[in-house]
Amino acid sequence: MLQCWRALTLFLLVSAASVFAASSLSFENSAIVRTVDLGGSLVHVTTTFAAKALEPKASAYTITLPEDEIQRTSWLEVKIKGQQQPLTVKYGGAPADGKFYNLDVQLPNPVEVDSTVNIVLETIQTHATYPWPERAAQQDEQSLKYNTTLFVLSPYKTNVQRTKVKSPSPEVRSYTTPKDVDAFTLESPVTKSGATITYGPYNNLPVSATNEWVTKNQQLIGIHYKYDYPVLELTQVKRVAEISHWGANLNIQDDIVLYNAGPELKGHFSRLEHQTQSFYKRAAAHVIPALSLHLPAGIHDVYYYDLVGNVSTSRLRAAPSVPKNSRSNQYSVMELRPRYPLLGGWNYTFTLGWDSPLADSASYDASTGKYIVQVPIMTDVPGSVVNECEVKIILPEGATDVEHVLPFPAVSTEESTHITYLDTLGRPVITFKYKNLTTKHAKPIYVSYKVPSSAHLRKPVAVATALLGLFVFGMFARRVDLTLHKKTA
Ligand SMILES: *[C@@H]1O[C@H](CO)[C@@H](O)[C@H](O)[C@H]1NC(C)=O
Ligand SMILES: *[C@@H]1O[C@H](CO)[C@@H](O)[C@H](O)[C@H]1NC(C)=O
Ligand SMILES: *[C@@H]1O[C@H](CO)[C@@H](O)[C@H](O)[C@H]1NC(C)=O
Ligand SMILES: *[C@@H]1O[C@H](CO)[C@@H](O)[C@H](O)[C@H]1NC(C)=O
Repeated sequence: MLQCWRALTLFLLVSAASVFAASSLSFENSAIVRTVDLGGSLVHVTTTFAAKALEPKASAYTITLPEDEIQRTSWLEVKIKGQQQPLTVKYGGAPADGKFYNLDVQLPNPVEVDSTVNIVLETIQTHATYPWPERAAQQDEQSLKYNTTLFVLSPYKTNVQRTKVKSPSPEVRSYTTPKDVDAFTLESPVTKSGATITYGPYNNLPVSATNEWVTKNQQLIGIHYKYDYPVLELTQVKRVAEISHWGANLNIQDDIVLYNAGPELKGHFSRLEHQTQSFYKRAAAHVIPALSLHLPAGIHDVYYYDLVGNVSTSRLRAAPSVPKNSRSNQYSVMELRPRYPLLGGWNYTFTLGWDSPLADSASYDASTGKYIVQVPIMTDVPGSVVNECEVKIILPEGATDVEHVLPFPAVSTEESTHITYLDTLGRPVITFKYKNLTTKHAKPIYVSYKVPSSAHLRKPVAVATALLGLFVFGMFARRVDLTLHKKTA
């Protein structure tokens, strides 16, 4: 359980007041390098700050992010370069009329005057790209646009900074050339080499995290690039995980709405054209015939249906169960083939579910008398974003002392009771809601609870009572039946 606490991502822990305020004199940036890895639904941004301490015992460093970037950022982590442990980050708030936010980073050790610490900020942005043109014919290529601000802002002076934008393909359709940057560079303000566009180096930037500096110097840059992969959004995922001690089973069922966020189809869809393109392995990226999902190891009785009924064209390669907490990365692979190819702008609604041995995800802690079960928040569909996610965990009937540990905070948490056929007490249910989840969020939720030994018996007793009821009813019915026979005879 300790590990899960440690894994807490502190993003979204909004604290209005700055707890450990930093002064603009405590550091100077020797260099800032920002790398933007362009994608479809997800854009990874890594910024490295080489910060030289100017004051003794400098232990708090402030990172500034523009407001619109904060809104796009779905995941964020700060580390010292080369170290594993994420650092504690607190929102330092925004200046009253400022269009940017400060993140205060607590350094693990105070930095001596004149020595340098390399701080790495890693973020994942979602919904940050859009198809351009917005509509494309079936044989057209798919291109996307992304924009961001030119300068990395900082409450400290910066000696040199540069931004590298990496396109997945060297076919970059266009990119912005910044204007009026002579104060920071005498060279070309932007260069392109292969699939990488480099803005800068820009030299001798003063403190830039001020409204005045931003108004005068900040500008938007845009990149238009070819993108040969699907742009997938899971607009809605509703997961129900039902724990059954009686059946020693964990059932997981996902109701999913899939959306192709690529360009909308211009004209008609031709299946013949699609098949011809697929045959020559050059099907358009904005026509998605199938996707490959990584499901847990040890699953069985997988089912997949949509609004029409069962879909039988998919393939599953199930991996055998792996021991709990083993470092094994085994997973089952499901090639999910929707009933029709998913075109740009289209939705596809379906249900996917499976059973797995409860022992694969549950353990019993004899010292507390509690069971601990881990339930993955979601199935990662690589490269996609889950806009809205709901995870409902249904515990065994009669479970008490329910507690949970989340890998990162939920938007909302709700506890209720679920009553099904044959239940007498009802089952405790916890429902978590999340927004804008990415591959980094595919982590387990831990729930712990007690099941009184009488609760194990309760269901068989309920079944027995029901059977007895049927039996009595059956005898009664037969007697009536007999009577009727006699009468008509
Ligand atoms: C999710 O992303 C959308 C689009 O970028 C944004 O408007 C919304 O604020 C985000 N929600 C959360 C909770 O981050
Ligand atoms: C910048 O990107 C956003 C999508 O993230 C888009 O809505 C906006 O129109 C773009 N702005 C410009 C000037 O291209
Ligand atoms: C779908 O398949 C399941 C199991 O194979 C079966 O029990 C169910 O009746 C099928 N449903 C339809 C609508 O065909
Ligand atoms: C897909 O779903 C979104 C909202 O979930 C809706 O706005 C859009 O019109 C749908 N697209 C189609 C082609 O039905």
